[in-house]
Amino acid sequence: MANSGHNYPIAARNPGATNYPFSIMKALVTGGGGFLGGAIVRRLRAREDAVRSYSRGDHPGLAQIGVEQIRGDLTDKDALTKAAAGCDVFFHVAAKAGVSGSNEEYARVNVLGTEHAIAACRTHKIARLVFTSSPSVTFDGTDQEGVNESAPYPTRFLAPYPLTKAAAERLVLAANGPDLATVALRPHLIWGPGDTQLVPRILERAKTGKLRLIENSGKKVDTTYIDNAALAHLLAADRLAPGAACAGKAYFISNGEPATMDEIVNGILAAAGLPPVTKKVSPTMAYAAGLLLEGWHGLFKSGEEPPLTRFVAKQLATAHWFDLTAARRDLGYAPEVTTKEGLERLAEFLKSLERK
Ligand SMILES: NC(=O)c1ccc[n+]([C@@H]2O[C@H](COP(=O)([O-])OP(=O)(O)OC[C@H]3O[C@@H](n4cnc5c(N)ncnc54)[C@H](OP(=O)(O)O)[C@@H]3O)[C@@H](O)[C@H]2O)c1
Repeated sequence: MANSGHNYPIAARNPGATNYPFSIMKALVTGGGGFLGGAIVRRLRAREDAVRSYSRGDHPGLAQIGVEQIRGDLTDKDALTKAAAGCDVFFHVAAKAGVSGSNEEYARVNVLGTEHAIAACRTHKIARLVFTSSPSVTFDGTDQEGVNESAPYPTRFLAPYPLTKAAAERLVLAANGPDLATVALRPHLIWGPGDTQLVPRILERAKTGKLRLIENSGKKVDTTYIDNAALAHLLAADRLAPGAACAGKAYFISNGEPATMDEIVNGILAAAGLPPVTKKVSPTMAYAAGLLLEGWHGLFKSGEEPPLTRFVAKQLATAHWFDLTAARRDLGYAPEVTTKEGLERLAEFLKSLERK
C-alpha cells in the first residue's frame, strides 16, 4: 500500500466558499479517482472538507486538489481499515461494475469489499456510511415505470453486477444502528464529462458504425447527470445520523426527466457533433445477440467486455424510471443540472478533448 505522502488536509473553512451550513468532514471515499468518486471528492474539496481516496491505481489529479491518496484493494481488509483511520464519514463508491467477469470476482470486490468497509467503520467508530448502490438491484427484467423504493429485490438476478450490488446494499442497510448510520443511493445511468462507461461506449460504437437502438415502443429511462449524483451523496452524508429519516434506507436518484433511449443516445451523439443513430433491432434479436456475444467472449475473449449481454439487452428494451419523492423528502435532493444543461456541458467537454 503506497501513500501519496500528502498530509491529510484539513483546511480552515472559508465561509464565503460554500452554501453548505454543515461542519467540516474528514471523508474516506473509495474509488475517489473514478467517475462518480472523482465528482464526489471535487465537491467535498470545494467546500473544504478533508478527503482521502482509496483505490488500487494512482490518480494524479487527486493530489492536485488536496486529496490524500491511499492505494489498495477493497478485498484487502487491513489496508482498507488503516485507510479509514481518523475519518468521520465513509463514502463507499468503488465497485466492480460492467458486464464481464466471474460471479466470484464480482462477489469478492462488491460484497466482501463492502463487508470490509462496514468493518472499517466499526473499527474506527465512523458514524456515517454512504453506499453507492444501483437501481439495477430491483431489476427483474420487466418495465419499471415510476417505481419507488418499495420495489422488492428480484428473486432472480440477470447478471453478477446487480446480484452483488444488491447483496452489498442489504449488508449496508442491515448495518444501520445506533453507532453507525448507513444509507444507500441508487443513481440511474450516470453520465457527463469524464464518464468512463455510457458516453465512451456510445461514441465508440457510433464512430465504428456498430451502434444500434433497440425497438422498445418509446419506453422511458431515467439518467443522472454526474453533478446531480455527486450532490445526492453529499446531501445524504450531511443528513445522515442515527435515527435520521434516511438512516437504514435506499433511495433512487436521477435527473427526474425520463426520456426514450433514442432521445438519450442521440442527445449524447449530438453533444459529440455526430449524426443521430436510426438503425434499430428488435428486443428478441438483441437478446439473442447478447447470448451469443457472452458465449463468444467467455470462450475466446476472456476478460474483455462483450459489446452486448442478455442483461444489457433486457435493460435497453424496458422502461426504467423512478419516483424521487423519498429522496426529495428525506435528503432534500433536487437535481441542480437539467439534462439540457448537462448535454451542453458534455458538448463543451468533448470539444475541449478534441482541442488537446
Ligand atoms: N456509472 C453509472 O452509471 C453508475 C450507475 C449506478 C451506480 N453506479 C455505481 O457507482 C460507483 C462508481 O462507478 P463509476 O461509474 O464511477 O465507475 P469507475 O469510474 O470505474 O470508478 C470506480 C472506481 O473504483 C475503483 N475500484 C474498482 N475496483 C476496486 C477495487 N477492487 N479496490 C479498490 N478500488 C477499486 C477504481 O479505481 P482503481 O482502478 O484505481 O482501483 C475506480 O476509480 C460504483 O459503485 C457503481 O456500481 C454507477
